[in-house]
Amino acid sequence: TMRLGVISALAEEQQGLIEAMQSPYKLTHGMRDYTAGKLWEIDAVCVLSRIGKVAAAMTASILVEKFGVTHIVFTGVAGSADNLVNVGDIVVADSLLQHDIDASPLFPRYQVPLTGLSHFESDLDLSNRLGDAASHFIENTLHQVIEPAEKLEFGLVQPQLHRGLIASGDQFIRSRAQIALLKQAHPELLAVEMEGAAVAQVCFELGIPFTVIRTISDKANEEAAVDFMRFVKSVASRYAFDLIKAFCKA
Ligand code: ADE
Repeated sequence: TMRLGVISALAEEQQGLIEAMQSPYKLTHGMRDYTAGKLWEIDAVCVLSRIGKVAAAMTASILVEKFGVTHIVFTGVAGSADNLVNVGDIVVADSLLQHDIDASPLFPRYQVPLTGLSHFESDLDLSNRLGDAASHFIENTLHQVIEPAEKLEFGLVQPQLHRGLIASGDQFIRSRAQIALLKQAHPELLAVEMEGAAVAQVCFELGIPFTVIRTISDKANEEAAVDFMRFVKSVASRYAFDLIKAFCKA
């Protein structure tokens, strides 16, 4: 039986989930507030990771070791790393890598020392289920929760679902040059963020099925910071809430 850990990077994304929780029970540990309860009949624990790989790794570890979660889903926003991935699109990770890890020449560039791995695969079943939830959201719910004016503002024409590689690092990516370098090394890269691959490594090491689902908030270019702030302040929370709701209710 599943006990689901839901990690969000931003307070806006978690608020609705906590309000939707049945018989919530709060516990603060390691400077984070964990809320355990039922999300649409699913036993769940919600927590804010805060930002960056260490923050995310810490949070994922505590979820497993102290709260006994059996599965982890990370929701949040990401920067696009591909011309076909637009603001408002959803990316479900099939695999994740840490783009800032470099122990060369001792270990190959991008390899996490002593794991022999650079890419960490998400759980196929969880990713399929989140992918289905995302398709359902795009087709049925998005037009109810996002106003036409907001669609216009963010250029959300027909949001798409993508599956593939997400890269994480302790950097907010904010230039075309940075993206070009990342794409050169990993042509299949779809999106960049700051936590997913850290959760992936923790879950790999602890044997916990996980996946990462991200809404694109910006194009990781020179406008990224402004676009990110605007997206997070308005629509990101509705994406996160309705995606988890669709997942839990399926
Ligand atoms: N999360 C959202 N946008 C991002 C970006 N451009 N770089 C890193 N993390 C992000």
